[in-house]
Amino acid sequence: MSIRFDEKSRIFHLTTQKSTYQMKVDQYGFLLHLYYGKRTEQNAEYFLQFVDRGFSGNPYDAGDDTTYSMDILPQEFPCRGNGDYRNTCFLMENADGSTGCDLRYISHEIQAGKYSLCGLPAVYADDRKADTLKIVLKDKVSGAEVVLLYGVLPDLDIITRSALVKNNGQESFFVMKAAAACLDFPVGDFDIIGFYGRHMMERNFERTHVGHHAYTIGSRRGTSSHQHNPMMILADTAATEDMGSCYAMSLLYSGGFEGTVEKDQINQTRMVLGLQPEQLRYPVKPGDTFVIPEVILSYSQEGFGRLSYNLHQCIRHHVCRGEYQTAVRPVLLNSWEACYFDINADNLCRLAKEAADLGMDMLVMDDGWFGKRDDDSSGLGDWYVNEEKLGMPLSELIDKVNALGMKFGVWFEPEMVNEDSDLYRKHPDWAMVIPERKPVRGRNQLVLDFSRKEVVDAVYEQMRELLNHNHIEYIKWDMNRSICDVYSHTAKEQGRVLYDYVLGLYDFLERLNRDYPHILLEGCSGGGGRFDAGMLYYTPQIWCSDNTDAIDRLYIQYGTSFGYPVSAVGSHVSAVPNHQTGRVTAIDARSVAAMSGTFGYELDLEKLSVEEKDKIREQIAEYKKLAPLILNGRYYRLTNPFTDEVAAWQYVSEDKEEVLFNAVQLEIHGNMTPVFVRLKGLERGVFYQEEQTGVLYPSDILMEVGLPLQNEQYEYQFYQITLHKSAN
Ligand code: GLA
Repeated sequence: MSIRFDEKSRIFHLTTQKSTYQMKVDQYGFLLHLYYGKRTEQNAEYFLQFVDRGFSGNPYDAGDDTTYSMDILPQEFPCRGNGDYRNTCFLMENADGSTGCDLRYISHEIQAGKYSLCGLPAVYADDRKADTLKIVLKDKVSGAEVVLLYGVLPDLDIITRSALVKNNGQESFFVMKAAAACLDFPVGDFDIIGFYGRHMMERNFERTHVGHHAYTIGSRRGTSSHQHNPMMILADTAATEDMGSCYAMSLLYSGGFEGTVEKDQINQTRMVLGLQPEQLRYPVKPGDTFVIPEVILSYSQEGFGRLSYNLHQCIRHHVCRGEYQTAVRPVLLNSWEACYFDINADNLCRLAKEAADLGMDMLVMDDGWFGKRDDDSSGLGDWYVNEEKLGMPLSELIDKVNALGMKFGVWFEPEMVNEDSDLYRKHPDWAMVIPERKPVRGRNQLVLDFSRKEVVDAVYEQMRELLNHNHIEYIKWDMNRSICDVYSHTAKEQGRVLYDYVLGLYDFLERLNRDYPHILLEGCSGGGGRFDAGMLYYTPQIWCSDNTDAIDRLYIQYGTSFGYPVSAVGSHVSAVPNHQTGRVTAIDARSVAAMSGTFGYELDLEKLSVEEKDKIREQIAEYKKLAPLILNGRYYRLTNPFTDEVAAWQYVSEDKEEVLFNAVQLEIHGNMTPVFVRLKGLERGVFYQEEQTGVLYPSDILMEVGLPLQNEQYEYQFYQITLHKSAN
């Protein structure tokens, strides 16, 4: 059992292969955090230092003991109202409008297996692979009970946290702020790493020193957003890719969030991740329960590389689900950058023919096939086929594509509606618009009120109609704007709408998974605007960015790799000059970037030269050979494209027999100096043979000195080198 409670000291020990997490119920019933870090069997109780803190505030029952202050002590689930003035996990508004709250320990339970959550995604595991700890805290006056949930996956060095807020009192209260995860560090000098961005340039790595201020990332957009990812890493200032202590928090929630790191008055650091508190005022009636979204925690003493590996393993094997979870995904051709809105059966069939000829597996019909949709001003909400535009019934088109040996996939944007649509004309109140106010439009569209079940039901029915009568094997689920006019015509309390919206979204996605288990789902939100572990519970891959430029993708995919496995990253080869940047790169460099993901194409194949088509044939054959290693192997970042002149990364099979090295030269200069890139994770003391040249390399030297890159002096030269462990 990975969870132990010592009755005498009242200390909980959560132990994974390489980490230990400790907390203690103290004499007043407060749950104090003691330690999270390198594995130990000892306890860190002496960390609790008691010196005069009269100016910080002291709980009433501490009497005249001014050395006891919640403002100083490390805590598990800090709440506003007990004298802790730092950032908190929990803020409630009582029936009388006050925000008092005083959570004390009541009981706990330790169980084999991993808890699950009602209506929200959660890490899952075989009962033998995980344990659960439930700790009940209670605020006596309001009757609010908070059940803290801890899931421990010892083999993966993963601990999850979530919490249930139950109203066992007589009167309703409101949840104003709710974050499942808090880490307090009494000592340490830290950097915080966040992944900021924008549409078409998501998840840029940014490392900031934690000083005496609040570092805050988050989203007020109703989605996890392009602007910040709900994943952050707290690192010892000395930590690097390969060494040093670091901690990750990754949120399983696809709506607004807030992540904060603060250094307090006596240099203690607190890290909190949870729901966005703005526009949250969730009513909890007597007998009701509010579920706080789960956070995945991991600790690594071996730098960011190991930390990412832990997250990759967890998300790939314990968050993603379904038939495609670990399967190699079909190589697809998406119609968007090939045709944009100008699609019809003729051009789709032509594309499909070319694609089949080149060895692709699936044609995806992107935006433009439904309702009245020739640009982004109309049609969303009307999920029936525009046969006039398409030129034939969808089933006939799919038959033709299937006859070529290709699967067929379709784009949807179920959460959205255009004012120019039948759905909106019939149900204007289904859109989120505040009465008497003009709504804010985004991409010419409004957001449907997914907090209402009848809205979710109606859109689902439209989709079912289509899926039941057509052989659709893939769905791209898009979401192309942020939520602004937060209002539901049926909700009494508008402070619940954003959270209920996410529940509605998850309910819809869960129905799709249940009713259509054979369909591959790909998430999307203007590219990677909702790239989070919550979505990955329903869609095992997400379109990583609307930016398909191979060089920009190296940066975007570098940032993404810190928190998410390669199998989750939707990535395509597109045309040059690139439609987003105008940059021209060789088709090989584009394929190296796209192969670090689920791989596909998004361009007009008819415009390619014979040589380019031959290259594509080779690329697809190569990808099919390499895909098991790319998707199942261990991923290593070898360089940092933000600071190095080469972007390089690598995959190593679990048995260390197979290695795939990838690199793209980012800078070119006269008389280039030699570049050596150090490999990682090889077996020591053996030889690896380069498949392409037959050259044998000693593994220790590959890891100490590096693999030489022979520069032929052209911009964005790419390298894709396969190495096999040699028997000699
Ligand atoms: C978003 C997606 C694109 C494409 C368009 C269609 O921008 O990210 O890939 O599907 O919508 O409108």
